This record gives sequence, C-alpha cells and structure tokens, in this order.
Amino acid sequence: MKIFIDSADIEEIKKAYSWGIIDGVTTNPSLIKLSLERRKAAGVQTELKDYITEILKIAKGTPVSLEVTETTGEGMLTQGILLYRLFNSVAKNVCIKIPINPALTSDAVKQYEGIYAISELAKRKIPVNCTLVFTPEQALLAAKAGATYVSPFAGRVDDLLRTRSQTLFGQDEYYPSEGKEDKTKLIEDNGIVSGIDLVAQCVEIIKTYNLPTKVLAASLRNPRQVREAALVGADVATIPFSVLNKLLIHPKTQEGMKKFVEDSVQEYKELVNKK
Ligand code: G3P
Repeated sequence: MKIFIDSADIEEIKKAYSWGIIDGVTTNPSLIKLSLERRKAAGVQTELKDYITEILKIAKGTPVSLEVTETTGEGMLTQGILLYRLFNSVAKNVCIKIPINPALTSDAVKQYEGIYAISELAKRKIPVNCTLVFTPEQALLAAKAGATYVSPFAGRVDDLLRTRSQTLFGQDEYYPSEGKEDKTKLIEDNGIVSGIDLVAQCVEIIKTYNLPTKVLAASLRNPRQVREAALVGADVATIPFSVLNKLLIHPKTQEGMKKFVEDSVQEYKELVNKK
C-alpha cells in the first residue's frame, strides 16, 4: 500500500519525506487554511504560489493533489486546467482534486457536475483525485469517468455513524470496521457499516471490474484504520502527520528498547563505535 501524507504543512511534509516512506501528498482547502493560519500565528509571511511550488519540489517524483474550489462543472474544469498549467511544470506531479458531487443543495441537475469535470480533465490526460466519496457507487462513477484516484472518506463515515449511535466517542477513537450494534441492529448508512467498510466496498468494485483507478483511503484518524485500509486492499492511504507519528508506537517496543539500552555493555559499545 502506498502512503501519502494528508497535509499542506510544509514542515510536516518535509519531515515525513525525510523518513523515506512517503509516496505522495494530498491537500484540500481546509488543510491549506490550517497551515496558513499556523504560519501567520508564528509570524511567518506566506506567498501561496511559492509555498505550493516548494511542496511540489519536496514531493518530486510523487503526486500532489491540489483541490478546486469552484462548484460548477465548467468552473471546476477551468480551475483544474489552470491549476495544472500553473503548477505542473514545477515537478510534473500535480493531480487535480475534484469533489464527486459539488452541489451545495440536492438540486438534481447539479449532481453530475463533478463527474463532468473529472471526465473532461481525464480526456486532457490531467490526473484526477476524486474526493468526498461516501458511497461505492460514487466511486464506481468516478472511476468510469476516468479518475486516477477515488478517495473514500473513512473517518467522516465513522463520524456519521457515531452520531447515529447511542454511544458517542471521540473522533480520533477507533470505530470498529465490522460496525457497531445499537441495541440489536448494526448502525449503518445505506449499507455501509464503517469507514473501512466503505473503503473495502470501493476496492471490491474497482477490482471486480478491473478498473485502472486506485482506491485512496482518506480521512484516516488512527493507526488501526490505517492497518485495516491495508488489509482490505486500499491502493493508497493518505495519513495526517499526527497519525503517521503514532504508527510506530507500541509499549513493548519501548520497554524492549529501554532494556537493550540498559544492557549495552561498555566493551560492545566501544567496539561498535570504533571509527
Ligand atoms: O484527505 C481527506 C482528509 O483531509 C479529510 O480528513 O479528518 O478532515 O475527515 P478529515
């Protein structure tokens, strides 16, 4: 499974790439807002074009998703082409993020605007990451339209199910992938019992029909969700820096390390420290 960092924070991105395990970056307007606010609070001025250019250079050789902000098909298409023209020359790694359905109301006519933008960008060979996927059928249509990636939002599905549950627990806490019973029946959203179940159903459909689209598990909030995204065959997991940091923690690893440090005899240390 590939690992992307879900961040627009240049320091986080730099650090994560220095570990040698990162295969790409995903950003969105909320993540860009957050990193600009952080920099402002730290008294750092940011010229956004230079800032994005820097991120693309750090990630050279791996894709970076940049999201559109328009909400009509034509608007997203124009903006997607513009973003691609503006930034792809930097490191040839721009992927345009398009929402599966940008409609802000349930106006039926507007529901296919995202699909339209995806297919028009795909026709122009511009890679697309289709975002805000909450059903396997959304993923199927995005794949048919030619999206390079589809991004099911696991954590936000769990948020939705939590609000339907009697037992609320924290956003970062693990929500069981097999679902949770409320009294006697599983809490579900039209047949989806957890965020990881959504990822699994997307993977199953895309693999069954041999579609070239990659399933990118997004909105992952804890290490167990990352593990389960890998177990159900997600092609990519995009992971926030805070969760990346938690992936290696285990109390027995820490305990074992303490003992190895304590038991290191002087003769051995001298031998291995010889220049
Ligand atoms: O990649 C999508 C991600 O940024 C959304 O995550 O935690 O805001 O649901 P979250």
